[in-house]
Amino acid sequence: MLRFVSRTFASLQTQTKLDSAAVLQSVLFSDSVSSGFIGATRMEPKLYRPPPQVRGMTSLDKDAFTQAITVPALLVPTGVLNKVMKSLKKSAIQRPGVHRVVQDGEEGSGFRLVLLDPHKVSSASSFSEAEAEALRSFGVSDELQQYELKLTYDNLKTEEVLEAVLPQGQDVTSSFSRVGHIAHMNLRDHQLPYKNLIGQVIMDKNPGVTCVVNKTNMIDSTYRNFKMEVLAGEENMVAKVKENGVTYEFDFSRVYWNPRLSTEHQRVVQLVKRGDTVFDVFAGVGPFAVPAARLGARVLANDLNPESYRWLEHNCKLNKVESKVQTFNLDGRDFIRGPLKQELPALLKADSAVHVVMNLPALALEFLDAFRGLLQLEPPCEQNLPTVHCYGFSKDDNPEADVVERASRSLGFPLENKCSVHFVRNVAPNKDMMCVRFTVPKEVLFCSEEAKTEPTEEPAPKRQKCEEAPNST
Ligand SMILES: C[S@@+](CC[C@H](N)C(=O)[O-])C[C@H]1O[C@@H](n2cnc3c(N)ncnc32)[C@H](O)[C@@H]1O
Repeated sequence: MLRFVSRTFASLQTQTKLDSAAVLQSVLFSDSVSSGFIGATRMEPKLYRPPPQVRGMTSLDKDAFTQAITVPALLVPTGVLNKVMKSLKKSAIQRPGVHRVVQDGEEGSGFRLVLLDPHKVSSASSFSEAEAEALRSFGVSDELQQYELKLTYDNLKTEEVLEAVLPQGQDVTSSFSRVGHIAHMNLRDHQLPYKNLIGQVIMDKNPGVTCVVNKTNMIDSTYRNFKMEVLAGEENMVAKVKENGVTYEFDFSRVYWNPRLSTEHQRVVQLVKRGDTVFDVFAGVGPFAVPAARLGARVLANDLNPESYRWLEHNCKLNKVESKVQTFNLDGRDFIRGPLKQELPALLKADSAVHVVMNLPALALEFLDAFRGLLQLEPPCEQNLPTVHCYGFSKDDNPEADVVERASRSLGFPLENKCSVHFVRNVAPNKDMMCVRFTVPKEVLFCSEEAKTEPTEEPAPKRQKCEEAPNST
């Protein structure tokens, strides 16, 4: 039913008016709530204020959020409607599921109502210069009308629902990361009593999300996967995602996957050329290995987690690169001292580049000691030495210097001025993820058995020993 209230839209500012709005609000609530162009009675505007009864709700009752608000509107001739809408983009109401153009009440009147955002428009003087000029040029009066709009749960934003439900004054931040159909959150303690409601709201408000999980803590620091609790939706943890045009499938609860690394994956893969060889020491489910193979590289990819290994193989098949990727389920050091060591002598004599990717930022820098004396039986060779891309976390004031120093210590060789360092991302306050790139020095690859087993605490001095005995054993 359409009801006309007033041709004049009053200011929202005074408390008296807000109070009278509140009275009207309760009147409207006692009725079944409907939308409409309001009739001749003068009425104060009302912004959306959550019904008080939803505060503290732990099981979602969508109907309890239904409410009528009053919004300003302009009466616009249908002939210039499209042009007016373009000019009023900033002032028109924007809410999920709310039509911005509605009938003005009289069939065939030749007019429509354009609904405006009550937070932005309270009188004709709220319009910007450009908007006012556009209205004049299209012959549209800037006299504000009132329109009573029924808002339901579906028209509310996530934050509006959560702010209405959670205890007042507490942070309702509801950020989540998305992995395929799964939204994963990191809820804080005060949000836990509302966890299922929060999960349901996230699912309702984000098309395509059919499962919401809370990452509780890291159960397995080796495999880097999280313990997860399903808050809402299906229990299916097998996600399908696309990253840089490549499709991956995996059980999100059992392997490592981080959507925030897509740029980093792309950055490194872009350095790989057709015919190159890539050793991916901590491959996960394949976000370096699979795209590198698609580019025409030969890839040897390894992961210690049997589940990652399984999904890595699956993703190679899914992307039809299984003939280009050899997969291994080994500890990273064993992979370097096994398959990598076996392949390296021939690759050192070839022309195409060799890349070693080591993305296990908590530990990878320490694994660099596996390169010491790797090829002690081989003649030293300057040509075609492998390029290592090794990741590390740093909490140091100078993260660049810190990761270079730690890489040097593991290798027993000073990398200062012989490597490049790339800032990947800030993972926590005062914790950065860095990538050190360097060519494995021949002094490291071909050093003596004695230098190989030296303790790794001291950074620089090992260099001499390696250089002294490049051919030994
Ligand atoms: C940070 S994830 C990186 C995965 C993938 N490269 C990526 O960029 O998404 C590290 C991976 O190393 C694996 N891992 C952990 N410890 C390992 C070890 N000692 N040897 C081999 N892989 C290991 C984990 O299972 C995990 O898949």
